[in-house]
Amino acid sequence: MTAQLDMNQTEATKKNNKKLFIKTYGCQMNVYDSQRMAEVLSPVGYELSETIDDADMVIMNTCHIREKASEKVYSEIGRIRKHQEKKAADGGRMLLAVAGCVAQAEGEEIMSRAPEVDMVFGPQTYHRLPEMVAKASRAAGQKILDTDFPPEDKFDHLPDETKSEGVTAFLTIQEGCDKFCTFCVVPYTRGAESSRNVTSIVAEAKRLVASGAREITLLGQNVNAFHGQGRDGSEWGLGRLVRHLADKVDGLDRIRYTTSHPRDMDDDLIAAHGELPHLMPYLHLPVQSGADNMLAAMNRKHTAKEYMELVEKLFKARPDLALSSDFIVGFPGETKQDHADTIRLVSEVGFGAGAFSFKYSERPGTPAAASEMQVAEEVKDERLAGLQQLLNAQQQAFNESMAGKTIPVLFEKPGRENGQMMGRSPYLQPVHIQGPESLVGQIIDCKIDHVKGHSLFGEAVEPFVENEQERAIA
Ligand code: 5AD
Ligand code: SF4
Repeated sequence: MTAQLDMNQTEATKKNNKKLFIKTYGCQMNVYDSQRMAEVLSPVGYELSETIDDADMVIMNTCHIREKASEKVYSEIGRIRKHQEKKAADGGRMLLAVAGCVAQAEGEEIMSRAPEVDMVFGPQTYHRLPEMVAKASRAAGQKILDTDFPPEDKFDHLPDETKSEGVTAFLTIQEGCDKFCTFCVVPYTRGAESSRNVTSIVAEAKRLVASGAREITLLGQNVNAFHGQGRDGSEWGLGRLVRHLADKVDGLDRIRYTTSHPRDMDDDLIAAHGELPHLMPYLHLPVQSGADNMLAAMNRKHTAKEYMELVEKLFKARPDLALSSDFIVGFPGETKQDHADTIRLVSEVGFGAGAFSFKYSERPGTPAAASEMQVAEEVKDERLAGLQQLLNAQQQAFNESMAGKTIPVLFEKPGRENGQMMGRSPYLQPVHIQGPESLVGQIIDCKIDHVKGHSLFGEAVEPFVENEQERAIA
């Protein structure tokens, strides 16, 4: 009887379909959060829509890491207001929610500056969305501001319905950061470091694989600081978790994790890179600068030499590893010599897997923003251009070194050209070959013939399953 009632309710809410449009900014953690928000709202009748037109609710899942993040949010709100007005003129209502890190950092200000916003909530409270939406959609239209760091674990309150939307999926295992790099807002917007428990991570990994994922990227602002509780109550590190996932989740072929801090790269995790074929030989390991005085001023808690020793250990464990990194040029007080030290570190280490580099920009409330030794914009421009030239050349050389090699490719989708399929190498490089659509989800050895831009082109050198029927039998 109860089951019947529940079913009727589900049917009723399904009929009451409302359109939800989510615009996601920033990192993979936000992509993951947006998917979870959609799942939380599905049982109360919201269905994801590809366009904002006619949406009943719009969520902006914001990012605070880039420059002028909050101004960009306000101008986007202005654009969405036009859609709200159109919907109101047609007799409807378009709720607007601002979520994510800008919401966490500037919730109250958004509420007072932007009356068109109905809800503001941070990354820790979106499991309460159905409740917030119910309140906000009342005729009287209560405004909701929920930027707590609640004591309950949001992961315990999310539906157990995580599905993979493709052959690769994200899985958040850790949130927040206790490192307090002096340029960074994350410890303030995402709060203190916390890890999910192992049981819930494994359950989610199994669901993702059951719904089609063959590769999972474990996410966290400081992912290798992971210290989740195992079933026996003991604390697990990331190395142990990765081994466990590789062993227990059948069908999970590729594991990645991001973003790591050099200080948290422990020996067990390094050893796992040498032992597990599941762990892809690609690592994003931000160093930010090659000058010790800059690293100290940034509060990175390691020296350039320590970083290089760490890299050496990693290559010893996994000689075919390729590295990626983040760099900041023009941090307050950075001299010509400091920048030269960064260039030297890049030349010595080699970042073949495509690194990210940014001009330092002030984030209100962070210690470095208060420094009086800010570097002139033209100097930053020049240093950034020099660094990017070197990083691009390293990436290009690494890509070109793939020509003639045979590498396993996980196919994701059709390519742009007729009959072409696109997949990823272990190093995340896009690989294009001619082949049938049934390649999606298969990992096939491909011989790389040539390289164009950042893409690799080649052909399959092992037989693949040609069509869905054969695949079902295989
Ligand atoms: N200025 C420039 N770059 C920054 N990053 C974080 N904060 C700032 C800032 N204030 C960069 C760092 C970090 C990446 C995600 O963004 O390099 O690793
Ligand atoms: Fe920000 Fe990363 Fe530093 Fe944490 S470790 S404060 S997330 S840059």
